[in-house]
Amino acid sequence: MKNSRREFLKAGALGAAMAATGLPAVGRASESEPAARRKQKILILGGTGFIGPYMVREALRRGHSVTLFNRGKTNNTLFPDLETIKGDRDGGLGGLQGREWDAVIDNSGYVPRHVADSAYLLKRNVGRYIFVSSVSVYADFGVTNSETSPLATIADETIEEVTGETYGALKALCEQRAADQIDGDKLAILRPTYICGPGDHTDRFTYWPLRARRAGKMLWPGTPQDIIQVIDVRDLANFAIDCVDRNIFGTYNMVNPRGESTMGTLLRDCQALAGRGGEAVWVDEAFLTAHGLYGGGELPIWFGSNPSIGFTAERALGAGLDTRPVRETIRDLLSWWDSLPRQRTAKPRAGLSQMREAEVLAAWRKRR
Ligand SMILES: NC(=O)c1ccc[n+]([C@@H]2O[C@H](COP(=O)([O-])OP(=O)(O)OC[C@H]3O[C@@H](n4cnc5c(N)ncnc54)[C@H](OP(=O)(O)O)[C@@H]3O)[C@@H](O)[C@H]2O)c1
Repeated sequence: MKNSRREFLKAGALGAAMAATGLPAVGRASESEPAARRKQKILILGGTGFIGPYMVREALRRGHSVTLFNRGKTNNTLFPDLETIKGDRDGGLGGLQGREWDAVIDNSGYVPRHVADSAYLLKRNVGRYIFVSSVSVYADFGVTNSETSPLATIADETIEEVTGETYGALKALCEQRAADQIDGDKLAILRPTYICGPGDHTDRFTYWPLRARRAGKMLWPGTPQDIIQVIDVRDLANFAIDCVDRNIFGTYNMVNPRGESTMGTLLRDCQALAGRGGEAVWVDEAFLTAHGLYGGGELPIWFGSNPSIGFTAERALGAGLDTRPVRETIRDLLSWWDSLPRQRTAKPRAGLSQMREAEVLAAWRKRR
């Protein structure tokens, strides 16, 4: 399989092993009073986008207090009762000065300088720092990546433009900038794969159940055995708040277990829940590559047909990550989708257009 970096990029360490990456060990800090018994003051950098609101609601549900920090551009009326500190991570952190929190969850760190600035400013005033990174940090997507696998690098570390090509290496640098400032036993780094569920504004995962719903022959990429790994936004949010409550530190892939979901189970689940509108035509990787459909945004979620690829989930599962069945995600995603206004659902933001799908399927039929 070719390196599938572009596909990931478009999205949205125990003792000696972690020493290789310069990142801290994993585990739970020991405290005389378990943190879970205390009400925590949590600061969320970027609490109003897709994943942030789930973290906010889960923290509130557990009795914690939440302060938001963002620019006020995204969903700014979502949490009228919460303290919101308005500011831009690019040089506008003044509102955070002199304040104290038990934990900060950093959802909006894409630029290493921004993460260095917030981690520097907050390190004396927050108990723990939870940085939301991405599996896009890995150097090679042709293998199964564990948390200690080599990370992507960027030749010019002053680059701040976030593109499909720079996203992963910049996220890796963001992790490093956080680790430069925050003690290892206070830093948790979460590396999600494709985050999906109600509210996903990318429509990447959503494309598949929507496609299954529509009649006609539908292009389904690769083979039924091809591994896919996703994370439901609610499972990610629960783990992030667990990091606060249970003093979890270290680096964790946020993925459902490798092998649990495949393109075949995705098809089965989509058809079970969305209706058997479409009839799947499996189109192999070589053909899709020849038609420019591998590693782009048109066939989201699919990693390709290499059986060696994926991400290990064992460390996070061992720390308490609970991943729900993909079928549950599809069910809730569809009911959210059906509640959206027509102007939002008329043109999904990811996946093949009907015309392109028909063209590729016609070419696939003619190939033999
Ligand atoms: N979505 C995925 O599938 C996926 C996969 C892997 C990793 N991730 C990671 O998950 C995190 C959150 O993703 P998301 O999809 O929830 O993001 P999102 O929907 O774009 O939300 C971003 C949040 O950050 C705030 N923000 C953005 N730029 C800011 C700035 N310069 N200063 C202050 N606040 C700023 C936004 O509010 P304002 O606009 O009001 O400032 C908003 O609250 C990101 O770190 C991303 O890399 C996402």
